Amino acid sequence: MELYLGIDVGGTTVKGLILDDSGNALCSGSSPTMCGCGLADCIAELARRLALNAGAELSSFRGIGVGCPGIIDSENGVVVYSANLELKNEPLAKKLEEKLGLKIKLCNDANAAALGEAKFGAGKGYKDSVLITLGTGVGGGIVIDGKLFEGYKSAGAEIGHMVIERDGNRCTCGRRGCFEAYCSARALTERTRWAMEEDTSSEMWKTYTHDTADGRTAFEYMATDRTAKQVADWYIKHLACGAANIANIFRPQVIMFGGGVAAQGKKLTEPLQKLLNKELFGGSEYAPVKVECATLGNKAGVYGAAALVMNK
Ligand code: BGC
Repeated sequence: MELYLGIDVGGTTVKGLILDDSGNALCSGSSPTMCGCGLADCIAELARRLALNAGAELSSFRGIGVGCPGIIDSENGVVVYSANLELKNEPLAKKLEEKLGLKIKLCNDANAAALGEAKFGAGKGYKDSVLITLGTGVGGGIVIDGKLFEGYKSAGAEIGHMVIERDGNRCTCGRRGCFEAYCSARALTERTRWAMEEDTSSEMWKTYTHDTADGRTAFEYMATDRTAKQVADWYIKHLACGAANIANIFRPQVIMFGGGVAAQGKKLTEPLQKLLNKELFGGSEYAPVKVECATLGNKAGVYGAAALVMNK
């Protein structure tokens, strides 16, 4: 039996999953992300731990696929630029190959997740699909005709850095008004905290403080609290704007949402589908675009990363 390891490096956690050659998950686990130069050690430690848990020798692995946020030179295995991981020109694949003695394939995290969903999840059966990940950052993966579209030198598909408000909120990339500056879990948390401060009579104060409120808080109270509803509406309105831009360019059959915020399920997708339908060029009757949550949830990235080495 051949084994494959998929690693998904997020802004806060590194996740891992072992798959067999039929795509069955054998074991999974995670570690807190160590940004900067410690990342290779952190991934290597997780890989060894998972192999041990699965009762397998590392040498029995066919390879390790790693999804990382930022611009990834997927041909040479280099993290060219990642604001969220504080890395520049990091030869991550080479470092991991030296540490683990295995073939390593690197790819952008959201690209890997889109591949995972297209192969094993909500994108299965569609020729053209887009995945938007709503986590620490906003990531994008575009699958056209069953294949990942990564752009020149695999630096494209940076959906999160499409401007949706000219001169708007500052983004981690240095520009203003990026999709990510409005629709990441971080942006949602900040907006929620700001709204709570503005309205101290909000029900959100019943359970949360400024520091404990997060991207889930507004959705939790939106049915009964006006301020929470305003925050959720604000978020969904910006999400619909970005999704409609993508839909009008690529017109995929489905746009899937992954990452932490997508755990809101229908609370997110139902209003989003309505807004998107209104904003689709020419309307939604001809060539409708479905809005779905990623069915692999926050495992899309690890499945996709493992699929990178399965295809080889
Ligand atoms: C990065 C992307 C990444 C996304 C999700 C963005 O800030 O630019 O490369 O896919 O965050 O992690």
